[in-house]
This record gives sequence, structure tokens and C-alpha cells, in this order.
Amino acid sequence: MTRKKTAQQSVVVMTEMVLPNDTNTLHNLMGGKLMHWMDIVAAIAAQKHSNRIVVTASADSISFKHPIGLGNVVTLKAQVTRAFNSSMEVFIEVWAEDIPANKKIQTHRAFFTFVAVDQNGRPIEVPEVLPETPEEVELYEGALRRRQLRLVLAKRMDPKDAVELKSIFNLEEKNDKK
Ligand SMILES: CC(C)(COP(=O)(O)OP(=O)(O)OC[C@H]1O[C@@H](n2cnc3c(N)ncnc32)[C@H](O)[C@@H]1OP(=O)(O)O)[C@@H](O)C(=O)NCCC(=O)NCCS
Repeated sequence: MTRKKTAQQSVVVMTEMVLPNDTNTLHNLMGGKLMHWMDIVAAIAAQKHSNRIVVTASADSISFKHPIGLGNVVTLKAQVTRAFNSSMEVFIEVWAEDIPANKKIQTHRAFFTFVAVDQNGRPIEVPEVLPETPEEVELYEGALRRRQLRLVLAKRMDPKDAVELKSIFNLEEKNDKK
């Protein structure tokens, strides 16, 4: 497939409020509830990019930097960083805002992978991503390395074929010295 779509075309922003039912015993947002919102916002971004039904293939690199308190307003932004054959990596950023206190901080970041499927649930090709801004280019370039890492960990790729990872850890150089 030669058709390309800009990374910007997939951007989705979602806003939620943390209600009592969403919290743990410390009155902070439950991690599972946040991951549910992340899955939704990222799936919409992947749908916008592919114009297909998408399924979650993996969720990784989720960092929980700060707890999000009851009553906070949560903003989630998702954007497709890069598409491969049928899969798309989506970058998700989360901010928590205490509106009465006039405080807004970034609390989470994550990468999810979605696969576009046809009516029979079989993977189907998606358009390439065209990154435009310096941040989009950086995310696009890092996506190949992250894909190889997650596929190796999922035992879907032989570590020997993970060329991008080898270059990071200088594996070839170290092996040569042995
Ligand atoms: C994701 C799914 C469609 C992949 O199907 P498959 O038959 O394994 O297909 P393939 O081996 O051809 O892989 C298809 C793509 O998925 C990617 N993929 C598969 N497993 C992956 C994983 N764990 N992490 C990241 N990508 C993965 C492959 O890299 C491939 O990407 P590419 O086409 O861009 O190269 C299938 O495993 C599935 O339906 N899983 C359940 C999805 C679901 O129900 N999600 C909700 C979560 S509860």
C-alpha cells in the first residue's frame, strides 16, 4: 500500500473526570480504569489512521509517574507514530488537572500496538505514517526499535533479527570481542 497519512490526522484528545467509582482506597484513580481510557483513545487514533476495525495487540512502556486524585480532570492524547504492515504503534500521553488549584501535570505515557483487521478478523494492510514535526519524526524513528523489542519479548521475533536493538546495545561489537 503506497497511500500515506500524516501523523497529525490520527490525533485524538479525550477528557474524563475522576469520579468516586474510579478510585482506589487512597482516593486515586485506579490503574485499570486509566488503562481502559488509554485503550479507547488509542483505538480511536488507530481507527482514524487505518479506517478499519482495530484490535489491541499489545500495551507496553506504561509509566505511572504520578497518582491522579479524585475530582481531577484527565486529558488523554493519542497519535499513531508509525504503521508497519497491519500494525500501528500509538503514543499516548496523559495529563491530570486540578482545576480549582489551577495545576496541570503530565502523569503518564505509553505505547500501544493495534492491528487492523478485516470482517473475518484477519490482519489487513494499513497506510504508512508521514511524520511532520521534529517530535513526530523522533517517535517515528524510535518505533522500529520498540517494535523489535516487543516482538522479541512476545517471542514473535528471533533476537538475531532485531537489527535495531543490536545497534543500541552494540551487540555485534561485543560479540566480536569475545
Ligand atoms: C493481534 C492479532 C490480530 C494478530 O494476529 P496474527 O494471526 O498473530 O497475525 P500476524 O502474525 O500476521 O501479525 C499481524 C500483526 O500483528 C503484530 N503483532 C502480533 N502480536 C503482537 C504483539 N504481541 N505485539 C505487537 N504486535 C503484534 C505483528 O507484528 C503483525 O504486525 P505487521 O502486520 O505490521 O507486521 C491476533 O493475535 C488477535 O486477534 N489477538 C487478539 C486481539 C484482541 O482481542 N485484543 C483485545 C485485547 S483483550
